[in-house]
Amino acid sequence: MDSGLILGIESSCDETAAAVVERGSRTLSSVVASQIATHLRYGGVVPELASREHLRNIVPVVRAALAEAGVSLGDLDAVAVTSGPGLAGALLVGITYAKALAFAQSLPLIAVNHLEGHIHAVLLQERQRRMKDPEDQVLRSAHDSEEESALALVVSGGHTHLYLAQPTEGTWRYRLIGRTLDDAAGEAYDKVAKLLGLGYPGGPWIDALARFGDPHAVPFTFAQVKSKAHLGGKAPRTKGAKTAPISELDPHFLFSFSGIKTAVLRYVELHGLREEAAARVPRMLAAGRTPKTKEEALDLCPQGTLDLIASFQRAVVGDLMKKTFGAAEAFEAEQILITGGVAANRELRERFTGEAARRGVRVAFPALALSTDNAAMIAAAAWPRFVAGEFAPVDLTADPSLVLGSAVNQFA
Ligand code: KG4
Ligand code: ZN
Repeated sequence: MDSGLILGIESSCDETAAAVVERGSRTLSSVVASQIATHLRYGGVVPELASREHLRNIVPVVRAALAEAGVSLGDLDAVAVTSGPGLAGALLVGITYAKALAFAQSLPLIAVNHLEGHIHAVLLQERQRRMKDPEDQVLRSAHDSEEESALALVVSGGHTHLYLAQPTEGTWRYRLIGRTLDDAAGEAYDKVAKLLGLGYPGGPWIDALARFGDPHAVPFTFAQVKSKAHLGGKAPRTKGAKTAPISELDPHFLFSFSGIKTAVLRYVELHGLREEAAARVPRMLAAGRTPKTKEEALDLCPQGTLDLIASFQRAVVGDLMKKTFGAAEAFEAEQILITGGVAANRELRERFTGEAARRGVRVAFPALALSTDNAAMIAAAAWPRFVAGEFAPVDLTADPSLVLGSAVNQFA
């Protein structure tokens, strides 16, 4: 079956990315053109600007990925592209380009769900690690080399979803078991950061500043999401309701991050921190990089704000842990994969790692560069589909609210 080289293309949000991955397990190149500088002054992604930037970047990014991998178009076996979920206009740039390329080169086209891509960022790395570990290889050839099922938490700017991921007859199948009812965890990070006058995206700034605050200073709490009985059996109306049947999910594994965002807003107003936050904006832009020392942190934020930031982060990570480990226990998962932009968070990694060790379950994260959006994860997720011959139709188009897996007690 040829050399197994797949070119992955990702353009669902604000990164234009291309990568070449061999057989879903060896990354030959991974190029990401970030649009942070474009969206910075708006404090969030502006969809029209994102599409325009993707158009500008797609050709040079794909060329760079091929050059870095040392391959030409003729060496490829397939082209994989993110078909959703994401911003419609942004997705279309990648899809249109991938379709044209596949058609011109007579290559199969593989459509990849962005969330499946995030899960494969960890799987790719695990495969890579196993390939390098000769002892593991011996063990694996002695046993069946089938990969193991896992509980996956996808936690990013657009998603906070819990899946059971299962390798079935060569491809992976997913069952949704939990999700956010409103904001994604990364969205809460970004909104709280904006409210505090911090840089964009907010996650890395809050991550860096939280180290210097007292996480117990502000007692944020998460109420348990209301039970089905409470809702009279009906699914609550949420912005994502049409994409996943919430009424099918166990309320213990549902997340809600809009409450803590409002609680931070109230705290800021009550403690007169609004002006101080507004004054911080130009200083943040000048700061350029996240603070590394307490002095640098205090130079940007007074201790009270650092305490607020640390308390916010502690509460968010605590809630993610409670529900993820609860789900791992309920579904007897021995392996937890945590992926997506928020998985880059230092406190999240430390606390999940500690708790997993205490409970005797395995936890894996992607390398930092693979936590946020990239195309290596898209090419890796495409590999089992390539082997199974699951190719995209010629009329493939963007699906901004594409769903991964099934929630109705089965894998899809
Ligand atoms: O996966 P990603 O690049 O894009 C989406 O698919 O959304 O995730 C971006 C999100 C942003 O909300 C960003 O603030 C958050 O991930 N993020 C972090 C960290 N690095 C990025 N959140 C917390 N701590 C971090 N270190
Ligand atoms: Zn993402």
